[in-house]
Amino acid sequence: MAKVAVMGYGTVGSGVYDIIKANADRLSRSANGEKVEMKYILDIRDFDDHPEKELFTKDFNDILNDDEVSVVAEVMGGLHPAYEFTKSLLESGKSVVTSNKELVATYGTELLEIARGKNVNYFFEASVGGGIPIIRPMHQCLTANNILKIAGILNGTTNYILDKMITKGETFEAALKDAQDKGFAERNPAADVEGHDACRKIAILASLASGKMVDYNDIETEGITNITLNDVKYAAAMDSAIKLIGYAQFGEDGKIYSIVSPMIIKNDNPLSSVDGVFNAIMVTGDCVGDVMFYGKGAGKLPTASAVVADIVDAVKHNERSKKIFWEKTEKNVMADKSSKKFSYFIRTSDLAENVMKIFGKCEFVDNIVDNESAFVTQPLTQAEAEEKMSKLTDVVANIRVLD
Ligand code: HSE
Repeated sequence: MAKVAVMGYGTVGSGVYDIIKANADRLSRSANGEKVEMKYILDIRDFDDHPEKELFTKDFNDILNDDEVSVVAEVMGGLHPAYEFTKSLLESGKSVVTSNKELVATYGTELLEIARGKNVNYFFEASVGGGIPIIRPMHQCLTANNILKIAGILNGTTNYILDKMITKGETFEAALKDAQDKGFAERNPAADVEGHDACRKIAILASLASGKMVDYNDIETEGITNITLNDVKYAAAMDSAIKLIGYAQFGEDGKIYSIVSPMIIKNDNPLSSVDGVFNAIMVTGDCVGDVMFYGKGAGKLPTASAVVADIVDAVKHNERSKKIFWEKTEKNVMADKSSKKFSYFIRTSDLAENVMKIFGKCEFVDNIVDNESAFVTQPLTQAEAEEKMSKLTDVVANIRVLD
């Protein structure tokens, strides 16, 4: 019998509880016949009406000091006290599994090192892509490859909002409220709409792919708050869609270029048809080519599905570390911004003649809004694009085009 605990009884924590109750036999079969039983739920709130209210505790030490508990799921979110709790648990020889991308992106290097030293596991399958298997495939199934590129829709909330704006003509605010009601959005939805959540996720994937810690603070991040319905209509007119993309490209020199930004995606790219709360991650390896991972990226049961799978894996590998880790290097691993060129979709009130004088060859898009020019540039570095845009009278919109 494996006794486990859950820290945090919010959307994901309650999903973990429900799955462990509902699929007990299935989990036991997967855990080599060992029964997985919940012993504690840590939460500062009262749950007096819960059918197993005796499982709840407000004291972290109940879990830390109980030798019977071998695996703990940290689904409380935020950095503190999640970091201190996780560190103490790993140091005491318990495995920890988490959906907390902020914690993994910030303290993952240290926590993985502690887990390795203690011969226990720190698993984080649910931290990227919700229910989509992506961490294990990156770590195990694609291990024969040098990863060349990752491009992913990594945030369910923003994808849901963009989809509702396009298909239902909903306002940004109404669509965000809807995503919050469905339990997709972060406690502070700015983390979703300003791209920080996607930034932490691409930092985790880039660290895993390169074996070197990618600091999410080094990743240029732009959210979807400037995207308008007219931008979306232009994209549709170009047989494309606008998606918030987490992007990382790995150079032969070991340097990593990474960015989070809304991008125009051509409809012949499968990422363009990923709608609603779904996430999709396209990984390009030097042997396998393109592989795409697709599924629900947020929400109670999809995310809890990945957390519970980690619990079972930790039960199966009790006292045996699976050696998932990346190193912190003194050297800057990030590539210079000039190492990557994108085409840009730009809207301006300038006439086409002036646009061509500044940008040279570009592709014009039929007007949706009167008295403006809309066009796609040749591939440019960010500095080149900014320099040219500064010569326009105004820039109504500028959105990168995914290559
Ligand atoms: N707020 C996140 C999202 C939750 O919308 O993708 C899953 O990490």
